[in-house]
Amino acid sequence: MLHITVTEKSLMNQHVDGYVVFCEEGFDFSSHRVQQLSEWYSPLQEIMRQRHFTGKANTTCVVAGVDGQRPVTLIVLGVGNLDTYRQEDRIENYRRALGHIIRIAEKTTITKLAIEMPQAERFGVDACRLAQETVTILDMASYHFDTFITEPSRRLSRDYSVVLCTHLDHKAEIEVGVEFGLRIGHAVNQARLWCDLPPVNLTPTELAEHAARIAKVHNLGFKIFDKKSIIDMGMGGIHAVSKGSAEEPRLVVLEYKTEHPGAPTIALVGKGVTFDSGGLSIKPASGMETMKDDMAGAAAVISTMEAISHLKPRVNVIGLAPIAENMPSGTATRPGDIIRFYNGKTAEVRNTDAEGRLILADAMSYAVKHYTPDYMVTIATLTGSCAYALGPFYAGLMTQNDFLADSLLQASRESGDRLWRLPFHDDYRAAIRNDVADLSNDSSARYRAGAITAGFFLSHFAGDVPFVHLDIAGTAFDVPDMSYYRSGATAFGVRLFVDFLMNWK
Ligand code: BES
Ligand code: ZN
Ligand code: ZN
Repeated sequence: MLHITVTEKSLMNQHVDGYVVFCEEGFDFSSHRVQQLSEWYSPLQEIMRQRHFTGKANTTCVVAGVDGQRPVTLIVLGVGNLDTYRQEDRIENYRRALGHIIRIAEKTTITKLAIEMPQAERFGVDACRLAQETVTILDMASYHFDTFITEPSRRLSRDYSVVLCTHLDHKAEIEVGVEFGLRIGHAVNQARLWCDLPPVNLTPTELAEHAARIAKVHNLGFKIFDKKSIIDMGMGGIHAVSKGSAEEPRLVVLEYKTEHPGAPTIALVGKGVTFDSGGLSIKPASGMETMKDDMAGAAAVISTMEAISHLKPRVNVIGLAPIAENMPSGTATRPGDIIRFYNGKTAEVRNTDAEGRLILADAMSYAVKHYTPDYMVTIATLTGSCAYALGPFYAGLMTQNDFLADSLLQASRESGDRLWRLPFHDDYRAAIRNDVADLSNDSSARYRAGAITAGFFLSHFAGDVPFVHLDIAGTAFDVPDMSYYRSGATAFGVRLFVDFLMNWK
C-alpha cells in the first residue's frame, strides 16, 4: 500500500528515512541544491565523483548521512541528458528512476520517503501528469506477488508513505494527479495479481466473480453468461475451447456510461484463457506454466473498467471478457472439428492451441450485435509469433483504421505501454481460408506472419465496426530490465486504455 501526501515544504524539512532527488546528466555539482544536501551528506560532491555518478539514465547513487543522531539516506536518481531523448523516453526515464526508489527501499528498512518533485516541463508533461506517473509507478514498483511465500524476509510487499515536495503554485494540480495515479496503480496491480495467481486459484468462474464484484461496487452495468447460456446462445467458440476442462466458461460484459451527450461507444474485448495447455494440440512442457497469464487481456479490460468508473472519461465503454480454460480430455475439441460462432460463421479447428481467436470471435460478435459500438479494440496474448517479432517491449498493433492506430499510438507514447504497428494488408487475409468451413483457426504456413493472420481471423467478427487488435503475447509478463516491473505480470493495457479513453477527441 502507498500513502501519499503533498506538501509545499522543502525536502529537507521532512522527517523521513529516505530523501529522493532527481538529477539530469551533467548536473552542476556546485549547485545550491547539492550544497544544501551536503549539510547531511557531506562530502556529497566527492562521494558522487568517487562513484562515477553523473546522472545517466537508470543509474542511482545512494548515500548514507546523519541528521543529528538520526540515520538518513539520500537517493539520487539519474534521468539522463533529457535533451537527447525523444519525448516518450524522457518520461520513461523518469518512470524507471522511480522504480529504483522502491528497489533500494526493499533492501533496507526504509518505508518513509520524501521526493523532491522535479520540474514537469523537463519531462514534457504538466505537473498533474507528473504526479500521476509518480504515484502509479511507485505503486507498480511496490507490487510483489508474495501471497504464497511464507518466509517473512522474502515477502517484499510493504506499506510506504511518501511525501511529494512541490511548489505551492502546483499543489492543487498535483493532488488531482495523485488521485488519478492511485486509481491507475490499483487497477494495474489488481490485473497483475489476477495474472500471477496460479490457474487453480483463478478459474473462469473466479475471474468472472471479480468482474461482477467490481461492477456492483462501482455501479457499472454488467452481464455474466454461464456455460448453459453460452451454449444456448450459440457461442460455439467459447464452448469449444472450454469443453475439455472441468471448469465452466464465462462471458463477462461490463458497461460504463458517460453523462456526456453524443459520446461514442467503444468496445474493449480481452482474451481470458485462465490456463492454456494447448488442448489436444498440447504445448511442450517447457514454458507451459506461463500460460496461467493467458487471461492478461481479460484482466486488463476488467481492471480498466474499474479505473474508468472513477476517472469518468467522456466516452461509453463496453468491456467484454470471454473466459475459458483450454484443457485436453475425452470431452475436448479435436483438431478437425468444425464450430459455429455467435455471428453464424464457421471455422475448422485445425489446432486447438489457437484458441484465443475462438473465444474472442464470440465476444466480438456479441458486442457487434447488442451494442453496435463505434469502435472495437481486442487485446490478447494471442500469438508466440508476435512475441518473437517484437520481444517484451512493444505489443503489436493491427488495424486498417488510421484514426484508431494514431489514437492508440499516441496513448502508447504517453502511458508507457508501448505499441508498434504491424502491416495489416488484405494480402494476408488468404492465410485463413479453409476448404471445409468459412475459416481456419490455424493459418497456412506459406503466409508465415502468425500475429497478422490471427488478426485477420478476428476481423471476421468485427462486422462493420472499425477495429484494432493488440497482441500482447510478448509484453504481458516477464518483461526484463524494467525497474518498476518484476518477473511476472505487467498488466499491459491498463495504463494504455486509461490514457486512450481519457484523452478521447
Ligand atoms: N497463448 C498462446 C500464445 C502465447 C505464446 C502467449 C507465448 C504468450 C506467450 C496462444 O494461444 C497460442 O498458443 N498460439 C499459437 C497459435 C498457433 C497454434 C497458430 C502460437 O502462437 O503458437
Ligand atoms: Zn494456445
Ligand atoms: Zn492462448
